[in-house]
Amino acid sequence: MSSARPAADLAPHYAVSLPAPDDFDAWRDAARQAIQCGIPPERLAWLEPGTTSDLFGTAGTPLPTPPPDAPAVRASKPFLAIARDAALHSDPARFDALYALLWRLQANPQAMEDKADPHVRRVEEWAKAVRRDSHKMHAFVRFRAVSVTDNAAMVDDGQHYVAWFEPDHHIVRANAGFFVRRFANMRWSILTPRGSLHWDGETLSEGPPAQRSDAPGGDPTEDLWRSYYASIFNPARLKVGAMLKEMPRKYWKNLPEAELIPQLIAGAQAREAVMVAAGEQSFGDRPRSATEIAAGSARCRACPIGSLGTQAVPGEGPLDARLMIIGEQPGDQEDIAGRPFVGPAGQVLDRHLAAAGIARDAVYLTNAVKHFKYVPRGKRRLNQTPTAKEIDICRWWLDAERSVVRPPLVLALGASAARGLLGRTASIARERGRAHMLDDGSELWITAHPSYLLRLEGEAQAREDAAFAADLAAVAQRLRTLESAG
Ligand code: URA
Repeated sequence: MSSARPAADLAPHYAVSLPAPDDFDAWRDAARQAIQCGIPPERLAWLEPGTTSDLFGTAGTPLPTPPPDAPAVRASKPFLAIARDAALHSDPARFDALYALLWRLQANPQAMEDKADPHVRRVEEWAKAVRRDSHKMHAFVRFRAVSVTDNAAMVDDGQHYVAWFEPDHHIVRANAGFFVRRFANMRWSILTPRGSLHWDGETLSEGPPAQRSDAPGGDPTEDLWRSYYASIFNPARLKVGAMLKEMPRKYWKNLPEAELIPQLIAGAQAREAVMVAAGEQSFGDRPRSATEIAAGSARCRACPIGSLGTQAVPGEGPLDARLMIIGEQPGDQEDIAGRPFVGPAGQVLDRHLAAAGIARDAVYLTNAVKHFKYVPRGKRRLNQTPTAKEIDICRWWLDAERSVVRPPLVLALGASAARGLLGRTASIARERGRAHMLDDGSELWITAHPSYLLRLEGEAQAREDAAFAADLAAVAQRLRTLESAG
């Protein structure tokens, strides 16, 4: 066999070393330069850190400077959007394939529209897989609380949250902003085999790849996850295939609640039989809009309160509100008007919202329980506190409202509202005035119910009024901080 290369092979081969496997901007800049120099895909190697180019038997020549009159590079917006995601895929061929596609786009700017084209399809599949991986990271990162000691000062530095996650692709850095926004006021680390992220409440830093053993095991907050998950698990809605698709087995080992899955599946039929026997309703699929929530809660008879009163009172306010305020249940006037917080407690709330600088019409206002629970006394209807079970049943509607509005800040007024969010009894005195993390990453603040202020007099009232005002001022401050962080 002759060792002489064909003449065309004597042309130089180029290599671009990318500084990081997820550095799309570096790839894009080099790809533009290479196209302007007229370097075809087969003469260019893309190197990730830790790889060398022996593809052509040489280390590869760095890219030359493009001629001053080189034409501008054509990269359509759809291409760039897909390429940005596809570049994070773990397939080592991705940068070559993206460059080959960009090369073709110069002669055929419509190439991306040919959905049957196998190269376009492959890049789109990569982008889709990366988006799925990001979605799983958002859903399945579970922080565990650890106590951190500042070694230099030898003082207890308070709570730090650590999570372990195994992404399939190079998505860690691209998702840092999501976690910073969601958990802005916590100190946390996300450890992964592809690198780690650390947030100290002000600054984000990156660290080297980690191992699972670097992350802590269980902690007491996991009991909260487990009981929350068990309480929202609805046997009537169980579709094992769909559940496994949403929550693949791969992620189970990091999720405290996943320990319950086999047991819950096994018990599902029995639980459904109990629900039916008890006359409880199976709720079906979670409503996806405010209209579905209003219609569904109006029909709901899952607990006895559903049959009382005039009508269900759903939440009201902008569906993109940054703050959701949750009361206990509609009172007499709310039941008649069909709107939350229009009676005496609503007036107290309005006064305090105005003093804190929070516009009521920018807030989504709702209640933990959607119907009015009362006992008749002559012509009057006296408010009755809903039981823990009634609040837990009605959480179905509250969770649906939260998943539609997705507020980053939630304020619970009183113990019933706090239970509707936490799924446990909360002590207002102990838990007010600071942020609690909810399952979807939003921040919960807890304060007293305004009707409690109405029941007090004199000094006690002045004291509670001031404490309520201070809680609202803290929430207003958090709202401003979140808004300025975007
Ligand atoms: N009290 C509440 O908890 N909610 C209302 O809507 C009115 C009074």
